[in-house]
Amino acid sequence: MAKPTVYVTKQVPETAIRLLEKQCEVEVNPEDRSLTREELLAKVRGKNAVLTMLSDTIDATVLDAVGPRCTIIANYAVGYNNIDILAATERGIFATNTPDVLTDATADMAWALLLAVARRVVEGDRFTRAGKFKGWGPLMLLGMEVTGKTLGVIGAGRIGQAFAKRAHGFNMKILYTANKPKPEFEAQTGAKFTDRDTLLREADFVSLHVPLTPSTRHLIGEQELGLMKKSAILINTARGPVVDEKALVRALKEKRIWGAGLDVFEREPELEPGLAELDSVVIPPHLGSATIETRDKMGVLAAENILAALAGKVPPNCLNPEATSKRRS
Ligand code: GLV
Ligand code: GLV
Repeated sequence: MAKPTVYVTKQVPETAIRLLEKQCEVEVNPEDRSLTREELLAKVRGKNAVLTMLSDTIDATVLDAVGPRCTIIANYAVGYNNIDILAATERGIFATNTPDVLTDATADMAWALLLAVARRVVEGDRFTRAGKFKGWGPLMLLGMEVTGKTLGVIGAGRIGQAFAKRAHGFNMKILYTANKPKPEFEAQTGAKFTDRDTLLREADFVSLHVPLTPSTRHLIGEQELGLMKKSAILINTARGPVVDEKALVRALKEKRIWGAGLDVFEREPELEPGLAELDSVVIPPHLGSATIETRDKMGVLAAENILAALAGKVPPNCLNPEATSKRRS
């Protein structure tokens, strides 16, 4: 019997490929770049499974191009706003993500950004490299104290909670928003459930941990930025479009807030004009889950999802188990 075919849209750690190759014919995009829309449509045609990146838009057209032999779209990410889940379900195609394995790495990145912005680490690094460090000074590159401040966590899912737990050593007051109060999380961290406006008014650091959905698009815009303290710092490790980037650049330029740490961008990999010129921002290129260990685990999870689906099972991280009823037997 011919082995099932799997297309992988960008190179992923070897472990995942080796797992897949035991049972499948695997083709990997050899280029160090995302496929164009045309390339994607051509490459996925007729495959039994596709391992996709968050940068691939998987809509009805792509799903139709893959065709009826396709069992699963396995996204190499926890976020899956790039996939039209409903369209996949209608076609009997499972969609999966890679939750849990990247929770800690992403929470760590949010802290890396918070500390880097608050203590001007990247700006200071540029200063030193430019030869501007002429000797220690009491007034040089002063930042914001972190210990004892108020942390605002918008979205208390797995990553938001892991981020908040890390505040323990900084003796912070924690405010959070979520669809509903989370008593266990509150008991563990002392976090207080509140409404978004109160959080924005009171927090010294506001960190975003919501998925991108129609209701979270531009969750932070002109008005919300206007509620924040002048001394506040915004951290985004979720998805770029959760923030109105134009409004953010304006607020930063006019010093209506103090700084921002952004790991994600509204039109990734494009940057909003003006953003990169600001010393008050730290802007890594979407590195939230980018540790050797986590990227390996994400690959294994995606591969396991594919192998389960190809074996006729509902994959472990299935986002649309209802696709089962549409599957052709
Ligand atoms: C990364 O952004 C992810 O969703 O995994
Ligand atoms: C969201 O995807 C989370 O894990 O919090």
